[in-house]
Amino acid sequence: MVEVRFEGVTKRYEDGTEAVIDLDLTVNDGEFLVLVGPSGCGKSTSLRMLAGLEDVTEGKILIDGNVVNDLPPGARDVGMVFQSYALYPHMTVSDNLSFGLRMQKGEARLSDSEIATRVTEAAELLGLSEHLTKKPKELSGGQRQRVALGRALVRRPKVLLMDEPLSNLDAELRNQMRTEIRRLHDELGTTTVYVTHDQIEAMTLADRIAIMNDGVLQQHAPPLTAYNQPANDFVKGFLCKHIDEIVDTAAKLFEER
Ligand SMILES: Nc1ncnc2c1ncn2[C@@H]1O[C@H](COP(=O)(O)OP(=O)(O)O)[C@@H](O)[C@H]1O
Ligand SMILES: [Mg+2]
Repeated sequence: MVEVRFEGVTKRYEDGTEAVIDLDLTVNDGEFLVLVGPSGCGKSTSLRMLAGLEDVTEGKILIDGNVVNDLPPGARDVGMVFQSYALYPHMTVSDNLSFGLRMQKGEARLSDSEIATRVTEAAELLGLSEHLTKKPKELSGGQRQRVALGRALVRRPKVLLMDEPLSNLDAELRNQMRTEIRRLHDELGTTTVYVTHDQIEAMTLADRIAIMNDGVLQQHAPPLTAYNQPANDFVKGFLCKHIDEIVDTAAKLFEER
């Protein structure tokens, strides 16, 4: 059971910017939540506070029932995937996948055979088995992003966090990876928070979406509920902008599932 909760969370940066204002949000165990909204609305800040990369100004963040406000990122058991996936260019895919595990010290340290098992598993899950001895420059963009995803998954994190992970990929690859990320989620069931500014990604990936604007949560609901019963004019305008494209993509994805 890994539930994530934001309780009255506000983030005020040193320059006075209120990036997130009084956020109350619960992500259920095993849920795929997409945080969506226009650029600058506070999505990354929310995710970074959850990961421990930014301090919380006010309020509490709970993972699995424990307040994590004062825990460093490494102690939170979250895996994170970013838009810029920054693989180690001189290391093989296999070494990139195992690097984080090999760096763990003390009690957290896994045996070499456990590390090897996890790498093999992640590679199979992500279709990377044949590429384990390659260097990142020999891979396509999609394969590189899969390695980045694998690097987060080998830790078997309690919570998986992704911040615009597909933004650097072309449209076709983005579609393909979107399907794959959802399939992975259905297979692993890890509680996931996924950030995007892209309505289509949000509508097609999420169990529920949390729509933000100017640091304020506007609506938290399943995609179709938000679409059919938008909480306000902002949500209505935001979700309807690309509706034809959303419906087409969703139809295609559901066919594939
Ligand atoms: N380190 C920072 N210092 C001051 N303001 C910041 C900082 N990082 C982000 N912001 C501001 O906080 C707001 C939310 O940013 P962010 O969470 O990155 O939005 P999003 O991910 O939705 O595009 C924006 O106004 C942004 O300019
Ligand atoms: Mg962002």
